[in-house]
Amino acid sequence: MLPPTTDQEPGGGREPVRFLVFSASLRTNSLNARLARLAAVSIEAHGGTADLASMSDFAAPSYDQDEQAEGGFPSSIEVFRRRLEASDAFVIASPEYNGSMPGVLKNAIDWVSRYKPQPFNTRHGLLLSASPSMVGGNRGLWALRVPLEHLGARLSPDMFSLAQAHQALDEAGQIESAPLRERFENNIAAFMDLVEAAKHYPCVKRAWFEFLGEYPTTPEVARVE
Ligand SMILES: Cc1cc2nc3c(=O)[nH]c(=O)nc-3n(C[C@H](O)[C@H](O)[C@H](O)COP(=O)(O)O)c2cc1C
Repeated sequence: MLPPTTDQEPGGGREPVRFLVFSASLRTNSLNARLARLAAVSIEAHGGTADLASMSDFAAPSYDQDEQAEGGFPSSIEVFRRRLEASDAFVIASPEYNGSMPGVLKNAIDWVSRYKPQPFNTRHGLLLSASPSMVGGNRGLWALRVPLEHLGARLSPDMFSLAQAHQALDEAGQIESAPLRERFENNIAAFMDLVEAAKHYPCVKRAWFEFLGEYPTTPEVARVE
C-alpha cells in the first residue's frame, strides 16, 4: 500500500527536483513511451522538472572493452551520462522482453557503468512497465533491478506495471481506469517525496567504511571494482 503523499496540491511547496524520464523501447508507437510521457506530465504537475528522453537518444553499439579502451565512449552514452548527472533521479518505463529487460537498455547501462564516478551510484530510480500481457511486464522490472541495484541505484520498492496496456490507455493516452490512474499518480508523487527528502532534507548520518585491503590497481581487478 502506498503512503498518502504530502503533495496534494499540484506543485504545492515542493523544493526543486529534476527527473530523467525515458522509455526503454525503440518502437515508434511504444506503449512504454506513452507511459513515460504520462510519468513526465505527472512529475511536472506535482511540481518537479522532467527531462523526457527516448531510448534512441542513448542507443549504442554493443559494449566492447577494447572499443572503450581504444575509442572511448559513444556520443549517445556521453549524452546518457550527462542527462543522468543533471537529474536527481530517473524513471524508466521498460518493456519486458522474454522475462527480462531489452538488450538496448542493458547495453546502455553497461556502457554508462564504466564512468567514474559511476552515475547510477546513490541515484534514486523508479521503474515502470507496460505490456499487453496480464502482468504488465512486471517480471522484466525485477530483472532490471539487478544491474541497477548492483550499481548502487536507490530503487523505489513501488514499481508500476500497466497490464493489458494496449487496452488500458485511452485515445488521449491517459490510463482509462480511474483507480489505476490514481494509483499511478500516487506512485509518482510518493517517489517524488522521497527524492525531495533525500536531496533537500538529509538527516541520516553517513557511515564511514574503511577499506583495509590493497587498493585495486590492476585492470583485471578494477573491472570488477
Ligand atoms: C523480443 C520480444 C520479447 C517479448 N517478451 C515479452 C515478455 O516476456 N513478456 C511480455 O509481457 N511481453 C513480451 N513481449 C511483448 C511486449 O510486451 C510488447 O511488444 C510491448 O508492446 C513492447 O513494448 P513497447 O510497446 O513499449 O515497445 C515481447 C516482445 C518482443 C518484441
